[in-house]
Amino acid sequence: MATLKEKIQNRTARVGIIGLGYVGLPLAVEFAKNGFDVTGFDVDTSKVDEINAGRSYILDVKTEDVASAVKAGKLRATTDMSHLEHMDAIDICVPTPLRKTKDPDLSYVVQAVDAVKAQIKPGQLVILESTTYPGTTDEVVRPALEEKGLRAGVDFHLAFSPERVDPGNEAFGTKTIPKVVGGFNRDSTELAAALYGSIIDTVVPVSSTQVAEMVKLLENTFRAVNIGLVNELALMSHRMDLDVWEVIDAASTKPFGFMPFYPGPGLGGHCIPIDPSYLSWKARQYGFECRFIELAGHVNGSMPEYVVERVGEALNTKKKAINGSKIHVFGVAYKKDVSDMRESPALDVLELLHRRGASVSYTDPYVPKLQHVDLNLCSVPEDKVDGVDCAVICTNHKVFNYDRMAKRYPLVVDTRNALKGVAGENIFRL
Ligand SMILES: NC(=O)c1ccc[n+]([C@@H]2O[C@H](COP(=O)([O-])OP(=O)(O)OC[C@H]3O[C@@H](n4cnc5c(N)ncnc54)[C@H](O)[C@@H]3O)[C@@H](O)[C@H]2O)c1
Repeated sequence: MATLKEKIQNRTARVGIIGLGYVGLPLAVEFAKNGFDVTGFDVDTSKVDEINAGRSYILDVKTEDVASAVKAGKLRATTDMSHLEHMDAIDICVPTPLRKTKDPDLSYVVQAVDAVKAQIKPGQLVILESTTYPGTTDEVVRPALEEKGLRAGVDFHLAFSPERVDPGNEAFGTKTIPKVVGGFNRDSTELAAALYGSIIDTVVPVSSTQVAEMVKLLENTFRAVNIGLVNELALMSHRMDLDVWEVIDAASTKPFGFMPFYPGPGLGGHCIPIDPSYLSWKARQYGFECRFIELAGHVNGSMPEYVVERVGEALNTKKKAINGSKIHVFGVAYKKDVSDMRESPALDVLELLHRRGASVSYTDPYVPKLQHVDLNLCSVPEDKVDGVDCAVICTNHKVFNYDRMAKRYPLVVDTRNALKGVAGENIFRL
């Protein structure tokens, strides 16, 4: 019988992807495109139905790619976890959110691992991709998978490989983003590296699952902390009457030792606002306090309030108050050119303005409707936005007509420097 290594080499390995979201679907399509037989597993029947009908629900994944993989019989989706038994390699890509207490919520991982455990068989390779604290694969996943008597590194292979996909990034995708892989033992690392190496240009093996877990948290903590720094610099620059954007652009001309980060209305998405808390939670078990993470969280978390303060300042120049004004937010997805609303700071901006008595509305071509606390809104088409007292650019989608915005609205608060180079007394940059 062919070994897993041989099956990977000749692409007869059957790959199972658990969790068909922003991470799992692109990965499933990439494996299928490269000739692997892929089964996607999800608890969400609508996603399963969409895939089986050959349609993509993720902007970065082309419907043609899903359709041709499904038509070629290389990709299918199911809610039936019993099919995990037939998989040679299983990638777990389920959510890892935080609880209300800001502690890690591993319930999705535990549920997915339980499904794998029920079907596990000798020779399988199980890889966790969900972002999590160092130790999860060894302390949570391994003991669960070993409950039926099979041993990791002996009977089955186990690895962690952080996902680095960046939705909306046109320069880098699944194939071109180097993949870090850390196995429970050397064989596990080699097999996981061989599997990813057959679809991804560069694979970076590391010495353990814990190192691979920590790599991802370093990357995202690095971003959270630097965004916190630059947000604080934006607040400071405003007090000093300096244009922080001009400062960052000029600093970016230094060819070494500087990397630009940009201020904004706050952190959003499923990664940067959440992942550092996974690290600080784990560090606390070692009696270690992550002060940079706490401070960055504090600064970044206060940005929606600051945006509202700046809206108040802008309205003040027209002798108006937030209370009773019509305020329109452009862009509510957490970053440009995506539809992802998770943790989006625009939601907090809308909610804070609403609570202060503003009449709020929004435009986002990628988010037709939104519900947040007691707000239930529908996106207004861009060319139908009229009679507003103040426009707030929260997300700088490429499709917006910024020239028109600058000319059309009496006040524009621009939290993203989307109106770079456009001058006017009605324009207020962060
Ligand atoms: N979105 C990103 O840009 C990004 C980037 C890098 C890493 N990550 C990490 O990858 C992981 C997945 O993130 P995502 O953005 O793809 O999440 P997502 O919510 O888009 O997708 C997760 C999918 O898992 C499914 N699911 C949940 N529990 C399940 C179970 N028990 N069995 C089967 N399916 C289940 C959900 O229905 C959903 O379709 C998270 O740990 C996240 O932090 C995300």
